[in-house]
Amino acid sequence: MKIAVPRETAAGETRVALAPESVKKLKAAGYSVVVERDAGAASHFLNEAYLEAGAAVEPWSDGFLGDADLVLRVGAPGTVADRDEIGTMRKDAILLTSLMPLRNLGAVRQLAARGVSAFSTDAIPRTTRAQAMDTLSSMANIAGYRGVLLGALELPKYLPMFMTAAGTVLPARYFIIGAGVAGLQAIATAKRLGASVFATDVRPEVKEQIESVGARYVGIELTGGASAGGGYARELSEQDKARQRELLDEQCATSDVVVTTALIGGVFAPRLISAQTVQRMRPGSVIVDLAADGGGNCELSRPGASITEHGVRILAPLNIAASMPTHASLLWSRNLTNFVLAFTKDKAFALDLADDIQRGAIITHAGEIMHAKTKEALQAAPGA
Ligand code: NAI
Repeated sequence: MKIAVPRETAAGETRVALAPESVKKLKAAGYSVVVERDAGAASHFLNEAYLEAGAAVEPWSDGFLGDADLVLRVGAPGTVADRDEIGTMRKDAILLTSLMPLRNLGAVRQLAARGVSAFSTDAIPRTTRAQAMDTLSSMANIAGYRGVLLGALELPKYLPMFMTAAGTVLPARYFIIGAGVAGLQAIATAKRLGASVFATDVRPEVKEQIESVGARYVGIELTGGASAGGGYARELSEQDKARQRELLDEQCATSDVVVTTALIGGVFAPRLISAQTVQRMRPGSVIVDLAADGGGNCELSRPGASITEHGVRILAPLNIAASMPTHASLLWSRNLTNFVLAFTKDKAFALDLADDIQRGAIITHAGEIMHAKTKEALQAAPGA
C-alpha cells in the first residue's frame, strides 16, 4: 500500500504529517511512502532525512496523490492556486487528518462526493486504547506549555521567588482556567518555572488532578452538573455562570498571568473574562487566551492578535502548535502512525467500521457522510 504526504497548504501552517522516524516504521510494516518535496522544511525535517528513512521525495503534480491508498495530513485538504487535492485523490483512498469537520463543511462535502474514506483525528474517541493516536492531546500539551512561556515573556516580572542582595521578590501568580490537557500542562510548566499557581475547572473530578500537578484548586460548588460525558464540559446554568463570574473576577484581579483553556464539547469557547474583569486586573498583568481558535475565553481577545487594554496585555494566539513545529510534527506523526499500525493487517490498512475508534473517527465513506453531527450541520447549512 502506498502512503502519500503532501505539503500543508493552510496559511501559517508549519507542521508536516509525517516525520522521518515514522517513515521507517511504516516501511517496516510493508507500506511505501512518498513525501512532497520540502513538505517538512518548516519543521526542519529535510528532504534528505526522508530519503535516508526510505521515502520517495517528489514535487507536487496532479498525479502526486493519484495512486496513493492512504493520504496523511495535518489539516483539511483545500484547493489552493497550484493544486486540487481532493479532486486528484483516488476514489477509494483513505485520508487521515484533523479535518475539524464542523469548521470545514465544504471539504467534507467534496470528500464524500469523491468517494474518499476520511478519518478525522479530532473525532477519535477519548478512550485508553486511542490515547496514542490522539492528536488533540498532543497539540493541547504544546499549547499549555507554550502559553505559559508566552505569558512569562510578556510579564514585566520574574516568575520564581528571588532572594537577592537587594531584597526578596515574590513569585508571580499564575491562574489557569480550564484544566483539561492544555490546562494541566500549563499548571505543570508554570510550577516548574517557580510561579505560584492557582487553577479552576467546572468538572468536579478535575480538582484532584489540579492538585496532583502542583496547583491550588479554586472553584465554586455547582448547582447544576458540568460534565457532558466523554470528559467534556457542558455549558453552565445561568445561576452557576453568575457565581463563577464572581470567582474569576476575584482571581484575575490578584493574578499576574491568566491562562485560559476552557472549551465546551472540545470546540466552543465560553466567554469567561469580561471587559470589566480585565479593567480590575493589575497594570502589567497578562492574559494568554489559549481558546482563541474556538473564539476566545476573554471578551477583549482578538484571535490571532496581541493587544493591550487597560494596561493588561492580552494574547490570543491561533494554531499555537505551529509555533513549535519540530515537536508538534513529531508527535503528530507518531499519533497518525499509531493509528495506521493499529489497523494494519497483512501489510495493508484494514477498514473496519465495526471498530469503535474507526467508527468514531470516520467522517465520510463510500459517498456518505458518516459523522452524525457533521451530517446535521450540513443539513442545516445546505449551501456550505
Ligand atoms: P477541552 O479542551 O474540551 O476543555 C478544556 C477544559 O475546559 C476542560 O477541562 C473543561 O472542563 C474546561 N471548561 C469548560 N468550561 C469551563 C468553564 N466555564 N470554566 C472553567 N473550565 C471550563 O478538554 P480536553 O483537554 O480535551 O480534555 C477533556 C477530557 O478528556 C479530560 O477529562 C481529559 O482528561 C480527557 N482526555 C482523555 C483522553 C483519553 O482517554 N484518550 C485523551 C485526552 C483527554
